[in-house]
Amino acid sequence: MADHRELVPYDHEPTGSCVDPPFHGGYANVDSLLPLRRDRSESYSSNLISHGYKEIVFSSYGENWKLMKKMMTTKLMSPTTLNKTLGDRTLEADNIVTYVFNLPQPGCINVRDIALTYCHAVMMRMMFGQRHFDVAAEDGGLGPKEKEHMDAIYRALDCFFSFNVTDYLPFLRGWNIDNEEEEVREAVDILNRCNDPIIHERMHSWRNKGGKETEEDWLDILITLKDDQGMPLFTFDEIRAQCKDINVATIDNTMNNVEWTIAEMLNNPGILEKATTELDVVVGKDRLVQESDIPQLNYIKACSRESFRLHPANAFMPPHGARQDTTLAGYFVPKGKNHSVYYIYGQSGATR
Ligand code: HEM
Repeated sequence: MADHRELVPYDHEPTGSCVDPPFHGGYANVDSLLPLRRDRSESYSSNLISHGYKEIVFSSYGENWKLMKKMMTTKLMSPTTLNKTLGDRTLEADNIVTYVFNLPQPGCINVRDIALTYCHAVMMRMMFGQRHFDVAAEDGGLGPKEKEHMDAIYRALDCFFSFNVTDYLPFLRGWNIDNEEEEVREAVDILNRCNDPIIHERMHSWRNKGGKETEEDWLDILITLKDDQGMPLFTFDEIRAQCKDINVATIDNTMNNVEWTIAEMLNNPGILEKATTELDVVVGKDRLVQESDIPQLNYIKACSRESFRLHPANAFMPPHGARQDTTLAGYFVPKGKNHSVYYIYGQSGATR
């Protein structure tokens, strides 16, 4: 247990910005964190979710991680892929507007539900090229299987971040202490039951039947990447582990930022008004916002960035392991020790 450190205080050093942050002032310099990147701690849940560290989020620094990271940045997140999948995001933006319009109680909106529905739908389309696992929901929201999938994602995240004694005393593994192991096994089973048939079928199609004319989504890219011998780069287990990474990484943080930004705006009506005025000026009232409008929506972008500062993504901050001795905010962190880093912005009350 002594291995686990939580580092709290952080000196506040405003660096300035070309756009005044709308809610509060100040940014933090994170350079001093660099030596703390980028080993991860070993745990029952991360091992299970990642199929034995065959992906990027939970695996430690090394050749496999570097390959996955390179693949993620140069292939899945490349401008070419993002442009190719623009239609998916536009379609889901239209769908979410229709969903909101058809809600049974007009005027009463659960922002979290809307943001989750949108993020899940976009993730499904960009990864699997389909919005539903099987039956579509009549109201345009998540179908029953998507709800089960989403619930399993959050259960898996909960397990990953909850305290599990076997992460510190590994010889206790297998005893399902406090039901922790069963919880994470059930969540991962659901994710497998949802994802695996799609991955299997697509791999079969690409590797045994010639596939499609071109890669259309992230799964196609993962399946068709080749090594320097011309052989498939990733195995089935690596692909399903990457898909699970994307399941857990794409929804929670994105949804939280939308929810916090809107909550802050509702608490600061002047800011909400400035944001809607910007929309009226840049987009007008005759069409919906498009991704191509985003570069001009500077005030709204500043609001979103300010929400990141006020409500940092601590919940999805997998524990880091120090790769060399270092000192952070006056705390000595020896090489190899695990720690969680929490940024607390002294003057801003940022951790509400
Ligand atoms: C508002 C949106 C997002 C926020 C705030 C966010 C935040 C984070 C944070 C805090 C980490 C941990 C970094 C660390 O351990 O140092 C992380 C890791 C990661 N995120 Fe995100 N994320 C967001 C969206 C996404 C999306 C949309 C994707 C993929 C499509 C993604 C993929 C990843 C991956 C692959 C990692 C692991 C990177 C690594 O270990 O090197 N994230 N994210």
